[in-house]
Amino acid sequence: MNYTTTAADRFISENKHLLRPDYRLNYHLMSEFGWMNDPNGFIFYDGQFHLFYQHYPYKPYWGPMHWGHAVSADLIKWRYMPVAIAPDQPFDRDGCFSGSAVERGGELVLMYTGHIVTGPDKDKDYYQVQNIAVSRDGATFVKWNTNPVIDRAQIPDGVSRKDFRDPKVFERDGRYYAVLGSNDGRGNGLILMYRSDDLAQWTFAGEIARSDGTLGDNWECPDLFRLGGRDVLIMSPQRMPAQGDHYRNLHSTTYMIGELDTDNGVFLYDGYEPVDCGFDFYAPQTAVDDKGRRIVIGWMETWETEIPTQNGHHWAGAMTLPREVTLVDGKLRFCPAAELAAYRGPLEEIHELRLEGETDLGLRGDSYELDVVFRAETAVEFGLKLRVDGAEETVLAYRPNERLFRFNRDRSGIGLGGERRTAIELEDGRLALRVFVDKSSVEVFLQDGRKVMTGRIYPGENSSGIRAFASGGSCRIEVFRKWDIN
Ligand code: FRU
Repeated sequence: MNYTTTAADRFISENKHLLRPDYRLNYHLMSEFGWMNDPNGFIFYDGQFHLFYQHYPYKPYWGPMHWGHAVSADLIKWRYMPVAIAPDQPFDRDGCFSGSAVERGGELVLMYTGHIVTGPDKDKDYYQVQNIAVSRDGATFVKWNTNPVIDRAQIPDGVSRKDFRDPKVFERDGRYYAVLGSNDGRGNGLILMYRSDDLAQWTFAGEIARSDGTLGDNWECPDLFRLGGRDVLIMSPQRMPAQGDHYRNLHSTTYMIGELDTDNGVFLYDGYEPVDCGFDFYAPQTAVDDKGRRIVIGWMETWETEIPTQNGHHWAGAMTLPREVTLVDGKLRFCPAAELAAYRGPLEEIHELRLEGETDLGLRGDSYELDVVFRAETAVEFGLKLRVDGAEETVLAYRPNERLFRFNRDRSGIGLGGERRTAIELEDGRLALRVFVDKSSVEVFLQDGRKVMTGRIYPGENSSGIRAFASGGSCRIEVFRKWDIN
């Protein structure tokens, strides 16, 4: 098949009436039709946000990658644009893989990976190069005929000849840099950095980070930016072994805080932390806006899982909410973008409710925001049950003695179950939660964004109850606020 952007757009418009609405989200970005994975090319350009994404429009499964494209004034309401690029050139023949965007002289410049299959085993016989496509109007993109701009010959010794992808381009002190993900061919992920004055000629600048054997065998989708006077590296390690309650998904996302020495191509960092402690979060990308905010969006899925909408719904994959990233006391905090408040419906509120056992809060919904403050008392565990109907429920619970929060989706409906946990301290005896539920997603922000947990759930249509509970003693809900979000 000859893939082109025109063919993709035509296919989407002729088929989108087939979409089943059951699990479509109300205030998150999904593909217009077919498959979506990583966010790409996230940028504030010419007065609005542009977000591209890994996209296979023809089936709700991964296939030869195109870049889907959407724009938004406020990060919440997105408008679909024509498909930006398709795998239609010798240098990206088998896929336009992940990449990023930068503005240069008024032009929107995309830097992405071209994936080329060279033999019968497509999982083994391939190589990857870096390409550029530019746009003057933010809608139609032209690939440079000088692509690739970084070829295989520029991969340093001791680094995989195959996995060489996901350039994140940024400007610093008048020069361009790109960080890319790879591995050493012996089971350790690593990040390479390249440097350029004109985006056309690139030279290798250094290997800025490498797994010590505990951080996965291949690293994908790096992002490197300055925040609060430090440098932050975010990347997605594949097959990283679990550490206690963290990194329990097949693939993970971590961040490191340190200092980047651009001259010597060295990044010295203190340690690493998970970006999200839930089930479904991968390959995030950040952008900075005109107000100087650093915003991150992740793919709200993980690889090699079963996604219920792949069965007859004609779509799969969604983005997380945009989250503002700040650096506080040496750690990142993630808070939902303030723009969400504009989509709140009327406030429903409960004050000073003592909990002992389980209580139906008499509120319902499948697309809403909660802002809840619990005061721990004697309860061994307390929390919320959302999307409840009969035996169906999604549990968010806290155990003060263990300082442990858990998100359980064993009874959430169809789709995968499981539980994810993370440690979090009470503050003045209180636990503050902001929870965003949207049809088939749950995002929980703990203690002002100190931890985040994201998961997809697929409950029945009538599972809309909201309950609160305390077991083994009592606790108090100081305040419970709910807004439907439309
Ligand atoms: C991450 C990833 C990237 C790659 C893309 C392909 O999810 O594997 O490394 O560029 O997806 O769709």
